[in-house]
Amino acid sequence: MITVIGSMNMDIVVQTDNFPVQGETVLGQLFTTVPGGKGSNQAVAAARLGSKVQMLASVGIDSFGNELLADLKANGVNTDSVIQTEEAATGIANILLSEGDNRIIVVPGANYSLTVESIKNMKETIQQSTFVIMQLEIPIPVVKYTLELCLELNVPVLLNPAPASGFQLEFMDYIAYLTPNETECELIFGENMEATLEKYPNKLIVTLGSDGARYFDGNKHIVVPGFKTNAIDTTGAGDTFNGALVHALGQGLSLEQAVRFANASASLSVEKFGAQGGMPSHEEVVNRLEGACK
Ligand code: RIB
Ligand code: NA
Repeated sequence: MITVIGSMNMDIVVQTDNFPVQGETVLGQLFTTVPGGKGSNQAVAAARLGSKVQMLASVGIDSFGNELLADLKANGVNTDSVIQTEEAATGIANILLSEGDNRIIVVPGANYSLTVESIKNMKETIQQSTFVIMQLEIPIPVVKYTLELCLELNVPVLLNPAPASGFQLEFMDYIAYLTPNETECELIFGENMEATLEKYPNKLIVTLGSDGARYFDGNKHIVVPGFKTNAIDTTGAGDTFNGALVHALGQGLSLEQAVRFANASASLSVEKFGAQGGMPSHEEVVNRLEGACK
Protein backbone atom coordinates (compact mmCIF):
# COMPACT_ATOMS: atom_id res chain seq x y z
CA MET A 1 0.00 0.00 0.00
CA ILE A 2 1.35 3.41 -1.02
CA THR A 3 0.31 6.22 1.32
CA VAL A 4 0.23 9.77 0.00
CA ILE A 5 0.24 12.45 2.67
CA GLY A 6 -0.34 15.83 1.10
CA SER A 7 -2.53 18.38 -0.57
CA MET A 8 -5.84 18.24 -2.36
CA ASN A 9 -6.78 21.28 -4.44
CA MET A 10 -9.44 22.21 -6.93
CA ASP A 11 -7.61 23.63 -9.94
CA ILE A 12 -9.27 26.74 -11.30
CA VAL A 13 -7.86 26.96 -14.79
CA VAL A 14 -7.98 29.87 -17.20
CA GLN A 15 -6.48 29.52 -20.66
CA THR A 16 -5.30 32.57 -22.55
CA ASP A 17 -3.21 33.36 -25.66
CA ASN A 18 -1.07 35.80 -23.72
CA PHE A 19 -0.45 36.23 -20.00
CA PRO A 20 -1.54 39.73 -18.96
CA VAL A 21 1.25 42.06 -17.84
CA GLN A 22 0.80 44.25 -14.77
CA GLY A 23 -2.30 46.42 -15.05
CA GLU A 24 -3.41 44.78 -18.31
CA THR A 25 -6.69 42.98 -19.02
CA VAL A 26 -6.75 40.26 -21.67
CA LEU A 27 -9.49 37.94 -22.92
CA GLY A 28 -9.16 34.26 -22.11
CA GLN A 29 -10.35 31.25 -24.14
CA LEU A 30 -11.37 28.80 -21.47
CA PHE A 31 -12.36 28.59 -17.83
CA THR A 32 -12.75 25.26 -16.08
CA THR A 33 -12.26 23.50 -12.76
CA VAL A 34 -10.45 20.15 -12.54
CA PRO A 35 -9.17 18.08 -9.60
CA GLY A 36 -5.59 18.77 -8.60
CA GLY A 37 -3.23 19.35 -5.70
CA LYS A 38 0.17 17.72 -5.72
CA GLY A 39 -0.92 15.13 -3.15
CA SER A 40 -4.02 13.90 -4.94
CA ASN A 41 -2.29 14.09 -8.32
CA GLN A 42 0.49 11.80 -7.12
CA ALA A 43 -2.04 9.45 -5.56
CA VAL A 44 -4.06 9.24 -8.78
CA ALA A 45 -0.91 8.74 -10.87
CA ALA A 46 0.12 5.69 -8.82
CA ALA A 47 -3.43 4.31 -8.61
CA ARG A 48 -4.03 4.51 -12.39
CA LEU A 49 -0.89 2.46 -12.89
CA GLY A 50 -2.36 -0.24 -10.65
CA SER A 51 -0.85 0.45 -7.22
CA LYS A 52 -2.95 0.21 -4.06
CA VAL A 53 -3.03 3.79 -2.76
CA GLN A 54 -4.49 5.60 0.23
CA MET A 55 -4.67 9.35 0.76
CA LEU A 56 -4.13 11.26 4.02
CA ALA A 57 -5.28 14.85 3.60
CA SER A 58 -7.73 17.52 4.61
CA VAL A 59 -10.47 19.19 2.56
CA GLY A 60 -13.33 21.50 3.49
CA ILE A 61 -16.98 20.62 3.93
CA ASP A 62 -17.95 22.14 0.60
CA SER A 63 -18.66 21.19 -2.98
CA PHE A 64 -14.98 21.30 -4.05
CA GLY A 65 -14.11 18.99 -1.16
CA ASN A 66 -16.87 16.57 -2.15
CA GLU A 67 -15.78 16.63 -5.80
CA LEU A 68 -12.16 15.96 -4.90
CA LEU A 69 -13.13 13.01 -2.73
CA ALA A 70 -15.31 11.61 -5.51
CA ASP A 71 -12.41 12.01 -7.97
CA LEU A 72 -10.04 10.03 -5.76
CA LYS A 73 -12.62 7.29 -5.24
CA ALA A 74 -13.31 7.10 -8.97
CA ASN A 75 -9.59 6.51 -9.45
CA GLY A 76 -9.54 3.73 -6.86
CA VAL A 77 -7.74 5.70 -4.14
CA ASN A 78 -8.77 4.87 -0.56
CA THR A 79 -10.06 8.07 1.09
CA ASP A 80 -10.95 6.73 4.56
CA SER A 81 -8.24 8.94 6.09
CA VAL A 82 -9.16 12.17 4.33
CA ILE A 83 -10.48 14.61 6.93
CA GLN A 84 -13.29 17.03 6.09
CA THR A 85 -12.86 20.11 8.26
CA GLU A 86 -15.16 22.97 9.19
CA GLU A 87 -12.15 25.21 9.79
CA ALA A 88 -11.41 26.21 6.20
CA ALA A 89 -12.51 25.94 2.62
CA THR A 90 -11.01 23.33 0.30
CA GLY A 91 -7.63 24.34 -1.12
CA ILE A 92 -7.54 25.80 -4.61
CA ALA A 93 -4.93 26.46 -7.25
CA ASN A 94 -5.42 29.37 -9.58
CA ILE A 95 -3.78 28.26 -12.82
CA LEU A 96 -3.11 30.46 -15.82
CA LEU A 97 -2.31 28.47 -18.95
CA SER A 98 -0.80 29.88 -22.10
CA GLU A 99 0.80 27.85 -24.88
CA GLY A 100 1.48 24.88 -22.59
CA ASP A 101 3.21 27.14 -20.05
CA ASN A 102 1.62 27.69 -16.63
CA ARG A 103 1.60 30.12 -13.70
CA ILE A 104 0.07 28.90 -10.46
CA ILE A 105 -1.09 30.49 -7.21
CA VAL A 106 -2.08 27.99 -4.52
CA VAL A 107 -4.35 28.94 -1.62
CA PRO A 108 -3.90 26.03 0.83
CA GLY A 109 -7.15 26.50 2.82
CA ALA A 110 -8.08 23.19 4.44
CA ASN A 111 -4.71 21.65 3.52
CA TYR A 112 -3.29 23.69 6.39
CA SER A 113 -5.80 22.16 8.82
CA LEU A 114 -3.84 18.92 8.68
CA THR A 115 -2.12 18.69 12.08
CA VAL A 116 0.56 16.67 13.85
CA GLU A 117 -2.29 15.32 15.96
CA SER A 118 -4.12 13.99 12.89
CA ILE A 119 -0.95 12.22 11.71
CA LYS A 120 -0.49 10.71 15.19
CA ASN A 121 -3.99 9.27 14.96
CA MET A 122 -3.08 7.66 11.64
CA LYS A 123 0.03 5.92 12.93
CA GLU A 124 -1.35 2.43 12.36
CA THR A 125 -2.46 3.29 8.85
CA ILE A 126 0.95 4.72 8.04
CA GLN A 127 2.64 1.65 9.49
CA GLN A 128 0.93 -0.53 6.88
CA SER A 129 2.52 1.39 4.01
CA THR A 130 5.25 0.06 1.75
CA PHE A 131 6.06 3.65 0.80
CA VAL A 132 4.99 7.14 1.82
CA ILE A 133 4.92 10.02 -0.69
CA MET A 134 4.87 13.64 0.49
CA GLN A 135 5.13 17.15 -0.95
CA LEU A 136 5.32 20.56 0.73
CA GLU A 137 1.78 21.90 0.27
CA ILE A 138 0.84 21.01 3.87
CA PRO A 139 2.24 22.64 7.07
CA ILE A 140 5.99 22.04 7.37
CA PRO A 141 5.80 20.93 11.05
CA VAL A 142 3.42 18.19 9.89
CA VAL A 143 5.89 17.13 7.19
CA LYS A 144 8.66 17.08 9.75
CA TYR A 145 6.70 15.04 12.27
CA THR A 146 5.62 12.56 9.58
CA LEU A 147 9.23 12.09 8.45
CA GLU A 148 10.26 11.29 12.03
CA LEU A 149 7.37 8.87 12.40
CA CYS A 150 8.15 7.10 9.12
CA LEU A 151 11.77 6.67 10.13
CA GLU A 152 10.66 5.19 13.44
CA LEU A 153 8.24 2.86 11.63
CA ASN A 154 10.84 1.99 9.00
CA VAL A 155 8.64 3.14 6.12
CA PRO A 156 10.62 4.69 3.22
CA VAL A 157 9.59 8.17 2.10
CA LEU A 158 9.77 9.93 -1.24
CA LEU A 159 9.64 13.68 -0.71
CA ASN A 160 8.79 15.91 -3.65
CA PRO A 161 10.01 19.31 -2.40
CA ALA A 162 7.38 21.50 -4.03
CA PRO A 163 6.96 24.32 -3.37
CA ALA A 164 10.65 24.35 -2.40
CA SER A 165 10.52 27.26 0.04
CA GLY A 166 9.41 25.05 2.95
CA PHE A 167 12.26 22.57 2.55
CA GLN A 168 14.70 22.03 5.44
CA LEU A 169 18.09 20.45 4.79
CA GLU A 170 17.73 18.04 7.73
CA PHE A 171 14.86 16.32 5.85
CA MET A 172 17.58 14.59 3.81
CA ASP A 173 18.40 12.39 6.81
CA TYR A 174 14.86 11.04 6.93
CA ILE A 175 14.03 10.21 3.35
CA ALA A 176 14.77 7.61 0.69
CA TYR A 177 14.30 9.94 -2.30
CA LEU A 178 14.08 13.66 -2.99
CA THR A 179 12.71 14.69 -6.39
CA PRO A 180 13.09 18.43 -7.09
CA ASN A 181 13.01 19.92 -10.55
CA GLU A 182 16.03 21.98 -11.61
CA THR A 183 14.67 25.25 -10.22
CA GLU A 184 13.75 23.67 -6.89
CA CYS A 185 17.15 21.93 -6.71
CA GLU A 186 18.95 25.22 -7.19
CA LEU A 187 16.76 26.95 -4.62
CA ILE A 188 17.38 24.23 -2.04
CA PHE A 189 21.06 23.42 -2.54
CA GLY A 190 22.58 26.33 -4.42
CA GLU A 191 24.07 26.34 -7.85
CA ASN A 192 26.41 23.42 -8.54
CA MET A 193 24.01 20.62 -9.38
CA GLU A 194 26.67 18.01 -10.20
CA ALA A 195 28.35 18.40 -6.80
CA THR A 196 24.97 18.28 -5.04
CA LEU A 197 23.98 15.10 -6.89
CA GLU A 198 27.28 13.51 -5.88
CA LYS A 199 26.52 14.28 -2.23
CA TYR A 200 23.29 12.30 -2.36
CA PRO A 201 23.87 9.22 -4.53
CA ASN A 202 20.75 7.25 -5.52
CA LYS A 203 18.69 9.60 -3.35
CA LEU A 204 18.50 12.94 -5.11
CA ILE A 205 16.68 12.66 -8.44
CA VAL A 206 16.39 15.89 -10.37
CA THR A 207 13.65 16.08 -12.98
CA LEU A 208 14.56 17.91 -16.20
CA GLY A 209 11.17 18.47 -17.83
CA SER A 210 11.06 17.01 -21.34
CA ASP A 211 14.75 16.08 -21.03
CA GLY A 212 13.94 13.40 -18.42
CA ALA A 213 15.68 13.12 -15.06
CA ARG A 214 19.14 12.59 -13.58
CA TYR A 215 20.88 11.26 -10.49
CA PHE A 216 24.31 10.06 -9.35
CA ASP A 217 24.67 6.32 -8.78
CA GLY A 218 27.78 6.48 -6.57
CA ASN A 219 30.17 6.12 -9.52
CA LYS A 220 28.73 8.07 -12.39
CA HIS A 221 26.03 10.52 -13.36
CA ILE A 222 23.00 8.85 -14.88
CA VAL A 223 20.85 10.93 -17.20
CA VAL A 224 17.65 9.09 -18.06
CA PRO A 225 16.30 10.77 -21.20
CA GLY A 226 12.69 11.86 -21.58
CA PHE A 227 10.29 10.82 -24.33
CA LYS A 228 9.25 12.82 -27.37
CA THR A 229 5.78 14.12 -26.74
CA ASN A 230 3.23 16.60 -27.97
CA ALA A 231 2.72 18.64 -24.78
CA ILE A 232 -0.52 20.55 -24.48
CA ASP A 233 -0.58 21.00 -20.68
CA THR A 234 2.43 20.31 -18.45
CA THR A 235 0.49 20.85 -15.20
CA GLY A 236 0.94 17.76 -13.06
CA ALA A 237 3.78 16.24 -15.12
CA GLY A 238 6.04 16.24 -12.06
CA ASP A 239 3.28 14.67 -9.99
CA THR A 240 2.85 11.91 -12.56
CA PHE A 241 6.61 11.31 -12.44
CA ASN A 242 6.55 10.92 -8.65
CA GLY A 243 3.49 8.64 -8.47
CA ALA A 244 4.88 6.52 -11.30
CA LEU A 245 8.36 6.33 -9.77
CA VAL A 246 7.06 4.92 -6.49
CA HIS A 247 4.74 2.56 -8.38
CA ALA A 248 7.65 1.27 -10.48
CA LEU A 249 9.95 0.86 -7.47
CA GLY A 250 7.16 -1.13 -5.82
CA GLN A 251 7.15 -3.43 -8.87
CA GLY A 252 10.79 -4.20 -8.14
CA LEU A 253 12.35 -2.18 -10.96
CA SER A 254 15.88 -0.84 -10.52
CA LEU A 255 16.18 2.90 -9.91
CA GLU A 256 17.23 3.54 -13.50
CA GLN A 257 14.36 1.47 -14.94
CA ALA A 258 11.91 3.10 -12.53
CA VAL A 259 13.02 6.59 -13.59
CA ARG A 260 12.59 5.58 -17.23
CA PHE A 261 9.10 4.28 -16.46
CA ALA A 262 8.30 7.54 -14.65
CA ASN A 263 9.60 9.61 -17.58
CA ALA A 264 7.35 7.68 -19.97
CA SER A 265 4.38 8.20 -17.65
CA ALA A 266 5.00 11.94 -17.38
CA SER A 267 5.36 12.24 -21.17
CA LEU A 268 1.88 10.73 -21.60
CA SER A 269 0.32 12.94 -18.92
CA VAL A 270 1.18 16.18 -20.70
CA GLU A 271 -0.70 15.16 -23.84
CA LYS A 272 -4.07 15.83 -22.22
CA PHE A 273 -5.55 18.83 -20.47
CA GLY A 274 -5.58 19.03 -16.65
CA ALA A 275 -3.20 17.81 -13.97
CA GLN A 276 -4.81 14.36 -13.88
CA GLY A 277 -6.01 14.23 -17.49
CA GLY A 278 -3.59 12.03 -19.42
CA MET A 279 -2.18 10.18 -16.40
CA PRO A 280 -1.63 6.78 -17.98
CA SER A 281 -2.51 3.17 -17.21
CA HIS A 282 0.27 0.62 -16.87
CA GLU A 283 -0.45 -0.65 -20.39
CA GLU A 284 -0.14 2.80 -21.94
CA VAL A 285 3.27 3.25 -20.32
CA VAL A 286 4.46 -0.15 -21.50
CA ASN A 287 3.37 0.77 -25.05
CA ARG A 288 5.33 4.00 -24.91
CA LEU A 289 8.40 2.23 -23.56
CA GLU A 290 8.17 -0.38 -26.32
CA GLY A 291 7.52 2.25 -28.97
CA ALA A 292 10.74 3.94 -27.98
CA CYS A 293 12.72 0.71 -28.49
CA LYS A 294 11.64 0.27 -32.13
O1 RIB B 1 1.70 20.09 -9.50
C1 RIB B 1 0.51 20.60 -10.03
C2 RIB B 1 -0.43 20.97 -8.96
O2 RIB B 1 0.13 22.01 -8.19
C3 RIB B 1 -1.76 21.48 -9.43
O3 RIB B 1 -2.72 20.46 -9.60
C4 RIB B 1 -2.14 22.50 -8.37
O4 RIB B 1 -3.23 22.12 -7.59
C5 RIB B 1 -0.88 22.70 -7.54
O5 RIB B 1 -1.00 22.14 -6.29
NA1 NA C 1 -2.31 16.42 -18.20
